[in-house]
Amino acid sequence: MIDKLKKAIRAIRLAKKFYRTGGCVVANIAYPQYGYVLKGKRVCITGGSSGIGLAIAKKYAQCGAEVVITGRKESKLKAAVSEIGHDASYVLWDVSDIHVCQDKIDEMGQKLGGCIDILINNAGIAPSKFWGNVDESEWDNIYNINLKGMFFLTQQLVKEWKKQPIQGYRKVINISSQGGFVGATYPYRMVKWDIRGLTEGLGKSLIGENIIVNAIAPGVVKTSMQQFSLEQGDNLFTNQNPIQRVCLPEEIAELALFLASDASNYIIGQTIVCDGGYTLK
Ligand SMILES: NC(=O)c1ccc[n+]([C@@H]2O[C@H](COP(=O)([O-])OP(=O)(O)OC[C@H]3O[C@@H](n4cnc5c(N)ncnc54)[C@H](OP(=O)(O)O)[C@@H]3O)[C@@H](O)[C@H]2O)c1
Repeated sequence: MIDKLKKAIRAIRLAKKFYRTGGCVVANIAYPQYGYVLKGKRVCITGGSSGIGLAIAKKYAQCGAEVVITGRKESKLKAAVSEIGHDASYVLWDVSDIHVCQDKIDEMGQKLGGCIDILINNAGIAPSKFWGNVDESEWDNIYNINLKGMFFLTQQLVKEWKKQPIQGYRKVINISSQGGFVGATYPYRMVKWDIRGLTEGLGKSLIGENIIVNAIAPGVVKTSMQQFSLEQGDNLFTNQNPIQRVCLPEEIAELALFLASDASNYIIGQTIVCDGGYTLK
Protein backbone atom coordinates (compact mmCIF):
# COMPACT_ATOMS: atom_id res chain seq x y z
CA MET A 1 0.00 0.00 0.00
CA ILE A 2 2.81 2.43 1.02
CA ASP A 3 4.78 1.48 -2.11
CA LYS A 4 1.77 2.23 -4.31
CA LEU A 5 1.32 5.58 -2.57
CA LYS A 6 5.02 6.44 -3.08
CA LYS A 7 4.76 5.52 -6.79
CA ALA A 8 1.67 7.67 -7.16
CA ILE A 9 3.42 10.65 -5.48
CA ARG A 10 6.43 10.19 -7.82
CA ALA A 11 4.12 10.09 -10.85
CA ILE A 12 2.36 13.28 -9.73
CA ARG A 13 5.73 15.04 -9.23
CA LEU A 14 6.85 13.97 -12.71
CA ALA A 15 3.57 15.14 -14.23
CA LYS A 16 4.03 18.51 -12.49
CA LYS A 17 7.55 18.84 -13.97
CA PHE A 18 6.20 18.05 -17.45
CA TYR A 19 3.42 20.56 -16.98
CA ARG A 20 5.76 23.33 -15.79
CA THR A 21 8.65 22.85 -18.24
CA GLY A 22 7.34 20.80 -21.14
CA GLY A 23 9.50 17.78 -20.35
CA CYS A 24 11.57 15.92 -17.82
CA VAL A 25 15.16 14.78 -18.44
CA VAL A 26 17.81 13.58 -16.02
CA ALA A 27 21.43 12.87 -16.89
CA ASN A 28 23.25 9.83 -15.61
CA ILE A 29 26.87 10.41 -16.55
CA ALA A 30 29.77 8.11 -15.59
CA TYR A 31 32.79 10.42 -15.66
CA PRO A 32 36.13 8.74 -16.43
CA GLN A 33 38.87 8.87 -13.78
CA TYR A 34 42.10 10.30 -15.15
CA GLY A 35 44.30 10.16 -12.07
CA TYR A 36 46.81 12.96 -11.48
CA VAL A 37 47.16 14.14 -15.11
CA LEU A 38 47.67 17.75 -13.97
CA LYS A 39 50.11 16.98 -11.15
CA GLY A 40 52.43 19.91 -10.56
CA LYS A 41 50.52 22.28 -12.86
CA ARG A 42 49.73 25.73 -11.48
CA VAL A 43 46.38 26.98 -12.71
CA CYS A 44 44.54 30.31 -12.62
CA ILE A 45 40.79 30.21 -13.24
CA THR A 46 39.14 33.62 -13.54
CA GLY A 47 35.55 33.56 -12.29
CA GLY A 48 36.22 30.32 -10.43
CA SER A 49 33.81 31.01 -7.58
CA SER A 50 30.72 29.52 -9.20
CA GLY A 51 29.29 27.64 -12.18
CA ILE A 52 31.63 26.50 -14.94
CA GLY A 53 34.78 28.00 -13.36
CA LEU A 54 34.12 26.28 -10.05
CA ALA A 55 33.49 22.92 -11.76
CA ILE A 56 36.78 23.28 -13.66
CA ALA A 57 38.60 24.22 -10.44
CA LYS A 58 37.26 21.14 -8.65
CA LYS A 59 38.15 18.81 -11.52
CA TYR A 60 41.66 20.22 -11.92
CA ALA A 61 42.35 20.08 -8.18
CA GLN A 62 41.20 16.43 -8.09
CA CYS A 63 43.65 15.75 -10.94
CA GLY A 64 46.62 17.13 -9.01
CA ALA A 65 46.76 20.81 -10.06
CA GLU A 66 47.47 23.73 -7.74
CA VAL A 67 44.50 26.01 -8.27
CA VAL A 68 43.90 29.71 -7.70
CA ILE A 69 40.50 31.19 -8.50
CA THR A 70 39.48 34.82 -8.94
CA GLY A 71 36.22 36.73 -8.56
CA ARG A 72 34.72 39.95 -7.22
CA LYS A 73 32.91 38.64 -4.14
CA GLU A 74 35.09 37.47 -1.28
CA SER A 75 32.38 35.46 0.50
CA LYS A 76 31.73 33.48 -2.71
CA LEU A 77 35.46 32.92 -3.21
CA LYS A 78 35.92 31.66 0.36
CA ALA A 79 33.01 29.22 0.03
CA ALA A 80 34.33 28.01 -3.32
CA VAL A 81 37.84 27.45 -2.00
CA SER A 82 36.54 25.27 0.82
CA GLU A 83 34.40 23.33 -1.69
CA ILE A 84 37.41 22.78 -3.98
CA GLY A 85 39.68 21.68 -1.11
CA HIS A 86 43.19 20.48 -2.06
CA ASP A 87 44.73 23.75 -0.72
CA ALA A 88 43.08 25.86 -3.42
CA SER A 89 43.37 29.62 -2.92
CA TYR A 90 41.74 32.77 -4.22
CA VAL A 91 42.58 36.28 -5.35
CA LEU A 92 39.97 39.01 -5.17
CA TRP A 93 39.91 40.79 -8.52
CA ASP A 94 37.46 42.43 -10.88
CA VAL A 95 38.98 41.38 -14.23
CA SER A 96 37.82 44.57 -15.89
CA ASP A 97 40.40 46.43 -13.76
CA ILE A 98 43.25 45.75 -16.14
CA HIS A 99 45.68 48.20 -14.54
CA VAL A 100 46.41 45.68 -11.80
CA CYS A 101 47.01 42.67 -14.08
CA GLN A 102 50.72 42.44 -13.19
CA ASP A 103 50.03 42.80 -9.43
CA LYS A 104 47.41 40.07 -9.63
CA ILE A 105 49.72 37.77 -11.62
CA ASP A 106 52.36 38.28 -8.89
CA GLU A 107 49.80 37.63 -6.13
CA MET A 108 48.63 34.47 -7.85
CA GLY A 109 52.23 33.37 -8.35
CA GLN A 110 52.81 33.73 -4.60
CA LYS A 111 49.70 31.70 -3.76
CA LEU A 112 50.64 28.99 -6.25
CA GLY A 113 54.31 28.87 -5.28
CA GLY A 114 55.45 29.74 -8.80
CA CYS A 115 54.35 31.10 -12.16
CA ILE A 116 50.98 30.07 -13.62
CA ASP A 117 51.21 27.21 -16.18
CA ILE A 118 47.57 27.13 -17.30
CA LEU A 119 45.20 30.10 -17.58
CA ILE A 120 41.44 29.59 -17.83
CA ASN A 121 39.79 32.83 -19.03
CA ASN A 122 36.29 32.13 -17.77
CA ALA A 123 34.98 35.18 -15.84
CA GLY A 124 31.88 36.62 -17.43
CA ILE A 125 28.48 38.17 -16.97
CA ALA A 126 25.22 37.45 -18.77
CA PRO A 127 23.55 39.89 -21.17
CA SER A 128 20.84 42.08 -19.71
CA LYS A 129 19.86 44.00 -22.85
CA PHE A 130 19.31 42.94 -26.44
CA TRP A 131 19.74 44.71 -29.82
CA GLY A 132 17.30 47.67 -29.79
CA ASN A 133 17.64 48.12 -26.02
CA VAL A 134 21.43 47.92 -25.83
CA ASP A 135 22.83 51.12 -24.32
CA GLU A 136 26.38 52.28 -23.70
CA SER A 137 26.52 50.93 -20.17
CA GLU A 138 25.48 47.40 -21.31
CA TRP A 139 28.08 47.60 -24.09
CA ASP A 140 30.85 48.73 -21.73
CA ASN A 141 29.99 46.21 -19.00
CA ILE A 142 30.00 43.23 -21.32
CA TYR A 143 33.08 44.24 -23.28
CA ASN A 144 35.06 45.23 -20.17
CA ILE A 145 34.35 42.09 -18.19
CA ASN A 146 33.89 39.40 -20.84
CA LEU A 147 36.65 40.46 -23.24
CA LYS A 148 38.95 43.26 -22.09
CA GLY A 149 39.96 41.41 -18.91
CA MET A 150 40.71 38.24 -20.85
CA PHE A 151 42.77 40.07 -23.48
CA PHE A 152 44.98 42.05 -21.10
CA LEU A 153 45.48 39.28 -18.55
CA THR A 154 46.64 36.96 -21.33
CA GLN A 155 48.85 39.68 -22.83
CA GLN A 156 50.54 40.35 -19.48
CA LEU A 157 50.94 36.67 -18.58
CA VAL A 158 52.49 35.87 -21.96
CA LYS A 159 55.09 38.61 -21.26
CA GLU A 160 55.93 36.81 -17.99
CA TRP A 161 56.08 33.43 -19.72
CA LYS A 162 58.48 34.76 -22.35
CA LYS A 163 60.85 35.84 -19.54
CA GLN A 164 60.77 32.34 -18.03
CA PRO A 165 60.88 29.73 -20.83
CA ILE A 166 60.16 26.11 -19.81
CA GLN A 167 60.30 22.64 -21.35
CA GLY A 168 56.84 21.56 -22.55
CA TYR A 169 53.74 23.65 -23.09
CA ARG A 170 51.84 26.32 -21.25
CA LYS A 171 48.15 26.61 -21.97
CA VAL A 172 45.37 29.17 -22.27
CA ILE A 173 41.72 28.08 -22.44
CA ASN A 174 39.13 30.76 -23.19
CA ILE A 175 35.42 30.35 -22.53
CA SER A 176 33.37 31.41 -25.55
CA SER A 177 29.76 30.29 -26.12
CA GLN A 178 27.44 28.66 -28.65
CA GLY A 179 26.42 32.32 -29.19
CA GLY A 180 29.81 32.81 -30.88
CA PHE A 181 28.68 30.49 -33.68
CA VAL A 182 25.33 32.08 -34.56
CA GLY A 183 24.27 35.56 -35.65
CA ALA A 184 25.05 38.22 -33.07
CA THR A 185 22.94 41.32 -32.46
CA TYR A 186 24.02 42.20 -28.91
CA PRO A 187 27.34 42.62 -27.10
CA TYR A 188 27.36 39.27 -25.23
CA ARG A 189 27.24 37.26 -28.44
CA MET A 190 29.54 39.68 -30.29
CA VAL A 191 32.15 39.19 -27.58
CA LYS A 192 31.83 35.42 -27.83
CA TRP A 193 32.58 35.72 -31.57
CA ASP A 194 35.58 37.91 -30.70
CA ILE A 195 36.85 35.23 -28.34
CA ARG A 196 36.83 32.69 -31.17
CA GLY A 197 38.88 35.08 -33.32
CA LEU A 198 41.28 35.89 -30.49
CA THR A 199 41.72 32.18 -29.77
CA GLU A 200 42.54 31.44 -33.40
CA GLY A 201 44.92 34.40 -33.64
CA LEU A 202 46.74 33.64 -30.40
CA GLY A 203 46.76 29.92 -31.16
CA LYS A 204 48.69 30.60 -34.34
CA SER A 205 51.00 33.31 -33.04
CA LEU A 206 51.91 31.78 -29.66
CA ILE A 207 52.53 28.15 -30.57
CA GLY A 208 56.07 29.15 -31.49
CA GLU A 209 56.53 30.15 -27.83
CA ASN A 210 55.25 26.71 -26.69
CA ILE A 211 51.95 28.26 -25.60
CA ILE A 212 48.81 26.38 -26.68
CA VAL A 213 45.61 28.44 -26.89
CA ASN A 214 42.15 26.93 -27.36
CA ALA A 215 38.59 27.74 -26.34
CA ILE A 216 35.36 26.05 -25.34
CA ALA A 217 31.94 27.13 -26.58
CA PRO A 218 29.37 25.83 -24.10
CA GLY A 219 25.67 25.61 -24.80
CA VAL A 220 23.08 26.21 -22.09
CA VAL A 221 24.82 25.26 -18.85
CA LYS A 222 23.15 24.80 -15.48
CA THR A 223 24.61 27.82 -13.64
CA SER A 224 23.29 31.07 -12.20
CA MET A 225 23.55 32.46 -15.71
CA GLN A 226 20.64 30.19 -16.66
CA GLN A 227 18.39 30.83 -13.67
CA PHE A 228 15.55 28.71 -15.12
CA SER A 229 17.79 25.62 -15.06
CA LEU A 230 18.54 26.09 -11.34
CA GLU A 231 14.85 26.54 -10.61
CA GLN A 232 14.08 23.25 -12.40
CA GLY A 233 16.21 21.35 -9.86
CA ASP A 234 17.20 17.90 -11.12
CA ASN A 235 14.99 18.21 -14.20
CA LEU A 236 17.45 19.14 -16.97
CA PHE A 237 14.84 19.51 -19.71
CA THR A 238 15.05 22.41 -22.15
CA ASN A 239 13.58 22.80 -25.62
CA GLN A 240 16.52 25.01 -26.66
CA ASN A 241 18.66 22.30 -28.29
CA PRO A 242 18.37 18.94 -30.08
CA ILE A 243 19.47 16.92 -27.03
CA GLN A 244 16.65 18.61 -25.08
CA ARG A 245 18.56 19.12 -21.86
CA VAL A 246 20.87 21.63 -20.27
CA CYS A 247 24.56 20.85 -19.90
CA LEU A 248 26.08 20.28 -16.47
CA PRO A 249 29.09 22.46 -15.56
CA GLU A 250 30.94 19.20 -14.84
CA GLU A 251 30.60 18.25 -18.53
CA ILE A 252 32.38 21.47 -19.51
CA ALA A 253 35.04 20.69 -16.89
CA GLU A 254 35.69 17.32 -18.61
CA LEU A 255 36.45 19.12 -21.87
CA ALA A 256 38.58 21.69 -20.03
CA LEU A 257 40.57 18.87 -18.47
CA PHE A 258 41.22 17.30 -21.86
CA LEU A 259 42.36 20.66 -23.27
CA ALA A 260 44.65 21.25 -20.28
CA SER A 261 46.21 17.79 -20.53
CA ASP A 262 48.97 16.70 -22.88
CA ALA A 263 46.41 14.50 -24.68
CA SER A 264 45.24 17.57 -26.63
CA ASN A 265 48.62 19.10 -27.50
CA TYR A 266 48.02 18.82 -31.26
CA ILE A 267 44.86 20.97 -31.06
CA ILE A 268 45.76 24.64 -31.64
CA GLY A 269 43.55 27.73 -31.83
CA GLN A 270 40.26 25.83 -31.86
CA THR A 271 36.99 26.68 -30.18
CA ILE A 272 35.43 23.35 -29.28
CA VAL A 273 31.63 23.40 -29.27
CA CYS A 274 29.81 21.58 -26.46
CA ASP A 275 26.19 22.57 -27.02
CA GLY A 276 23.89 19.55 -27.27
CA GLY A 277 23.59 20.13 -31.03
CA TYR A 278 22.34 23.74 -30.85
CA THR A 279 24.61 25.05 -33.61
CA LEU A 280 24.01 22.14 -36.03
CA LYS A 281 22.29 23.18 -39.26
N1 LIG B 1 25.95 29.14 -18.27
C1 LIG B 1 25.85 29.15 -19.58
O1 LIG B 1 24.83 28.77 -20.15
C2 LIG B 1 27.02 29.61 -20.41
C3 LIG B 1 27.00 29.31 -21.78
C4 LIG B 1 28.06 29.70 -22.59
C5 LIG B 1 29.13 30.38 -22.03
N2 LIG B 1 29.11 30.66 -20.68
C6 LIG B 1 30.26 31.40 -20.16
O2 LIG B 1 30.84 30.69 -19.08
C7 LIG B 1 31.53 31.60 -18.24
C8 LIG B 1 31.15 31.30 -16.80
O3 LIG B 1 29.77 31.55 -16.60
P1 LIG B 1 28.83 30.66 -15.64
O4 LIG B 1 27.72 30.19 -16.45
O5 LIG B 1 29.65 29.70 -14.88
O6 LIG B 1 28.23 31.83 -14.70
P2 LIG B 1 28.40 32.13 -13.14
O7 LIG B 1 28.08 30.94 -12.31
O8 LIG B 1 27.62 33.38 -12.94
O9 LIG B 1 29.95 32.42 -12.96
C9 LIG B 1 30.54 33.63 -13.36
C10 LIG B 1 31.85 33.78 -12.64
O10 LIG B 1 32.50 34.94 -13.16
C11 LIG B 1 32.83 35.80 -12.07
N3 LIG B 1 32.79 37.18 -12.50
C12 LIG B 1 31.77 37.87 -13.03
N4 LIG B 1 32.15 39.12 -13.30
C13 LIG B 1 33.45 39.24 -12.91
C14 LIG B 1 34.40 40.28 -12.92
N5 LIG B 1 34.10 41.51 -13.35
N6 LIG B 1 35.63 40.03 -12.44
C15 LIG B 1 35.95 38.81 -11.97
N7 LIG B 1 35.11 37.78 -11.94
C16 LIG B 1 33.86 37.99 -12.40
C17 LIG B 1 31.81 35.48 -10.97
O11 LIG B 1 32.30 35.83 -9.69
P3 LIG B 1 31.75 37.12 -8.88
O12 LIG B 1 30.29 36.93 -8.77
O13 LIG B 1 32.48 37.07 -7.59
O14 LIG B 1 32.15 38.30 -9.68
C18 LIG B 1 31.69 33.97 -11.13
O15 LIG B 1 32.75 33.33 -10.48
C19 LIG B 1 31.14 33.00 -18.72
O16 LIG B 1 32.19 33.53 -19.50
C20 LIG B 1 29.92 32.76 -19.58
O17 LIG B 1 29.77 33.75 -20.57
C21 LIG B 1 28.10 30.29 -19.87
